[in-house]
Amino acid sequence: MQFARIAGLGKSLPDKVLDNLELEKMVDTSDEWITTRTGISQRRILGKDKGSSELGAKAAINALKNADVAPDKVDLIIVTTVTPDTIFPSTACYIQKKIKAKNAACFDLSAACAGFVYGLACAEKFIISGMYKTILVVSTEVMSSIVDWTDRSTCVLFGDGAGAAVLTASKKESFLATYLGSNGSYTDMLYVPAGGSKYSVTKEVLDNHDNCIRMRGNELFRLAVRAMADAAQNALELAKVPIDDIKLLIPHQANNRIITAIASRLKLPKEKVYVNIEKYGNMSAASSAIAFCEAWEDGLIKKGDIIVTAVFGAGLVWGSNVIRWV
Ligand code: UT7
Repeated sequence: MQFARIAGLGKSLPDKVLDNLELEKMVDTSDEWITTRTGISQRRILGKDKGSSELGAKAAINALKNADVAPDKVDLIIVTTVTPDTIFPSTACYIQKKIKAKNAACFDLSAACAGFVYGLACAEKFIISGMYKTILVVSTEVMSSIVDWTDRSTCVLFGDGAGAAVLTASKKESFLATYLGSNGSYTDMLYVPAGGSKYSVTKEVLDNHDNCIRMRGNELFRLAVRAMADAAQNALELAKVPIDDIKLLIPHQANNRIITAIASRLKLPKEKVYVNIEKYGNMSAASSAIAFCEAWEDGLIKKGDIIVTAVFGAGLVWGSNVIRWV
């Protein structure tokens, strides 16, 4: 039996910073409102005519370097994104070309902000089944391409970025448990109305900004807290790991108040909860991937530590992995 472990993590962020003061000039908002209601001070913006594969490829190359794995050793690339370069081919194929991972199979996975945890779950299962030995999971988002820059209730929240993990076969067990959940009765809570097969992009769609994010933020808030706290608890139960054994919780970074509420529900002290939302805002699936990478870069993750992810997003979907760092 072979297990799977994370052998390397990487990230990529665009250089352009959009801070709250600049947003004050664009919509009726204030730095004070954004920081107190969300914890966000700034976010990164990729800029026109660049796709999520550009960020994803850079994050993938960094993760491969950190794992000391050559691109041609990658058996599978799983990309999780709600902002693919094109409807098809998959962004995974664009990334494959950019990083020269010529021996990899490729596909995209759609699980919105929960994508990284869903991606890790798939990669781990492919490895323990014996089908593959080396898998790249890339969560990459250009949220700025689907944000309505006239809607203050959403445009202040999102940013662009990519995070990646290389999973390899291992003799030691590392993924102790994974819990995934979904509830399709809430598809209208957070979505992009047009641009898919049901409503194609017309002039009317563009005039109404129906190709952009719609969100019922206030209602989502409560659901997000409950779903992420429950996901972490369920995964910990499956892993038979008591909450006190957690070294670090890495939650989706949608709102600092959501993260605080999850920590309080789980009775976790704040030094055990990783937060970087102030620098980047909500980057959908890339948020937890980048948070994981930065926690590792910051030296917060050591051999033997128990790391728990908790994510939540459009669908609704949610999930959690319990990982022993080996
Ligand atoms: O990543 C996927 C998951 N995403 C989430 O889980 C997001 C969850 N939701 C949230 O994080 C929060 O609900 C928001 C940050 C989106 C909004 O915060 P809130 O405290 O729930 O605010 P609200 O929507 O209840 O709005 C409060 C007030 C409203 O004004 P009135 O009606 O009280 O006069 C809004 O119009 O704040 C107003 N408002 C703003 N004011 C200044 C909304 N956006 C802004 C803004 N600047 N950017």
